[in-house]
Amino acid sequence: MAIRKIVKLGDDTLRKTSKPQESFNLRLWTLLKDMADTMYQAEGVGLAAPQVGILRRVAVIDISENRDQLIEFINPEIIWRSEETQCGREGCLSLPGRAGIVTRPKKVKVKAQDRHGEPFELEAEDLLARAICHELDHLDGVVYIDVMDREMSKEEIEADNKRQEKGNKE
Ligand code: NI
Repeated sequence: MAIRKIVKLGDDTLRKTSKPQESFNLRLWTLLKDMADTMYQAEGVGLAAPQVGILRRVAVIDISENRDQLIEFINPEIIWRSEETQCGREGCLSLPGRAGIVTRPKKVKVKAQDRHGEPFELEAEDLLARAICHELDHLDGVVYIDVMDREMSKEEIEADNKRQEKGNKE
């Protein structure tokens, strides 16, 4: 298990466009493993390669409560977005302690390659659709604060956290 350092806002890497991943080899698999380990340790739902300083079009997402439904995206592209939107809280491991309200499509269809280079398509909704939009933005140097409706205050974040904790117990 190798935990990589997560790049924080202010680092140029977060603002660059990532290059396509062309080799599907041990080096990529090591990156994917390290990214998953790093995401799980930081208790995030997603992580994009530029967040660990690698400018390649690679992202990992796991929105499951049990942390056992990892999805790896290589060279992902959103090929369809629903007109219907969702508006909700979003945060980022590169901007710890902050959160914003971001409007995203309610559903998206994404095309990507798996770790062996095999193409796949996935239709996602709600939180998974939001996570996909967020991570794919990272591959183009976009951070959620660029597209948010508004920043949440510390008080709002605390109140929302309490609500969620309570929700989990119910
Ligand atoms: Ni992020």
